[in-house]
Amino acid sequence: MPETILALDGVVAVYGFSRVLQGVSLAVERGRVVALLGRNGAGKTTTLRSVMGLVAVPSGRIGFDGVELRGMPTFEIARLGIGYVPDDRRIFPDLSVERNLALAARHSPRGAGGYWNLDTVYGLFPPLSEYRTRKGSVLSGGEQKMLAIGRALMGNPKLLMLDEPSEGLSPLILRGLVAAIQKVGAEGMTILIADQNLKFARRLAGYAYIVENGIIRHHGAMAALMEDGETVRKYLAV
Ligand SMILES: Nc1ncnc2c1ncn2[C@@H]1O[C@H](COP(=O)(O)OP(=O)(O)OP(=O)(O)O)[C@@H](O)[C@H]1O
Ligand SMILES: [Mg+2]
Repeated sequence: MPETILALDGVVAVYGFSRVLQGVSLAVERGRVVALLGRNGAGKTTTLRSVMGLVAVPSGRIGFDGVELRGMPTFEIARLGIGYVPDDRRIFPDLSVERNLALAARHSPRGAGGYWNLDTVYGLFPPLSEYRTRKGSVLSGGEQKMLAIGRALMGNPKLLMLDEPSEGLSPLILRGLVAAIQKVGAEGMTILIADQNLKFARRLAGYAYIVENGIIRHHGAMAALMEDGETVRKYLAV
């Protein structure tokens, strides 16, 4: 029996008077990689932010591993075991790569003892190992992305949420990132990826949700979506 670890049910999210999510419902099963797709401004980032308690959610339910998250402060949500990598990465620019990683582990109660530690993160992202003494700020965009994902892994979360990991990366770097995320998934991590790049997401996720205007318009197996040209054209083609 697949077990649902994250379930959003009728989630409404607002920025001031602007209702951005109109009742989003979705489920992520433990151990699966799921994509949340949609065009610019569709509501992908807001969905992830609603899980993290970073946007007002006046109604709906957000269940994570048996706990209701709605109304909980962000640091507690993170502590329950959600690793969130925002689209703007948020690494410490003045600290070295290694300090960035070590701090992430120290600030997470689940950090120690899991599969992910300095060695396994360096194994996943060899450039980080090479640049371990460099400051975060001097890394390339792709390397900063690796560092941000590495930081999230150091906490050994139960769920990893990646916002727009493919954004702004060259095809070569992107290929490396796909391989790395595939490895993380193969280690058993549950992953929710918000991205508008279908070519990228299809290589990672077995299941896809499509959001448009703050509503889930489609969900189903990624393989079926790839056969469904009409849905892709309607909601994803640029
Ligand atoms: N801080 C904010 N205040 C007001 N409106 C916002 C704010 N952040 C986002 N929005 C609006 O909410 C809607 C959904 O935005 P969101 O960032 O969730 O989209 P997205 O699917 O992540 O898009 P993108 O592909 O550009 O990242 C958009 O109409 C956006 O203008
Ligand atoms: Mg976004």
